[in-house]
Amino acid sequence: MSSEASKRTRPVVAIDGPAGAGKSTVARRVADELGFVLVDTGAMYRAVALAASRAGVPFSDGAAVGAVAAALVDEGALAFERADGGGVRVLLRGEDVSTAIRTPEMSQGASTVSAHPPVRAALLAMQRQAGAGGGVVLEGRDIGTVVFPDAEVKIFLTASDEVRAARRHAELVAKGQDVTLEATLADIRERDARDSGRDVAPLKQASDAVRVDSSSMSIDDAVGEILRVVSAR
Ligand code: DC
Repeated sequence: MSSEASKRTRPVVAIDGPAGAGKSTVARRVADELGFVLVDTGAMYRAVALAASRAGVPFSDGAAVGAVAAALVDEGALAFERADGGGVRVLLRGEDVSTAIRTPEMSQGASTVSAHPPVRAALLAMQRQAGAGGGVVLEGRDIGTVVFPDAEVKIFLTASDEVRAARRHAELVAKGQDVTLEATLADIRERDARDSGRDVAPLKQASDAVRVDSSSMSIDDAVGEILRVVSAR
């Protein structure tokens, strides 16, 4: 165990996995059951994409988006609050952007900007700080491999791409967005390929992570499975 890990009295729970595996819902429920704080690292990349887009900075420009991310962190411009419904409210310079960061455009934008090393470097310290004391569930792509390689609990939550697309499509339709299932599946596959294929901190299962395949599991089943892993540690 590393010295950082040995200082923690409560565990860090890392939940990684591809888009649409149910991470957000499952991670929130696990955090609630344990009385832990939830840190949604994908929301940080989404907020950077939104800030870049508003500033007219192209997602492909790593140095410029990195500067946007570093400025947001320096200014303390990103904040996360508990929303009434139990989710996380994301604030960008005090403005509630929780809905604005969840569009398909910002999903692709977050995936693109997150592949740039300066963007990841800017957010890493913030993510480590958020989890340092333990008693926290962090969800993302590289929590168990890069952000907290010494996490006490590592879960890789996944599901088939068809199941993930169907779930994501239902969510988008419920929010009133006009998208087809085919477009959602193509979107998910494109993001998977980019998130897994990048050079820095790619999406991959940590060697010591427990794999949970939620393809034919309910949310309750997945939450129960993860809580069992936590209590076994
Ligand atoms: O989990 P999400 O769909 O909100 O994440 C949006 C994008 O952010 C995802 O496609 C890849 C990126 N991301 C990342 O690179 N590393 C993380 N720890 C979390 C998200």
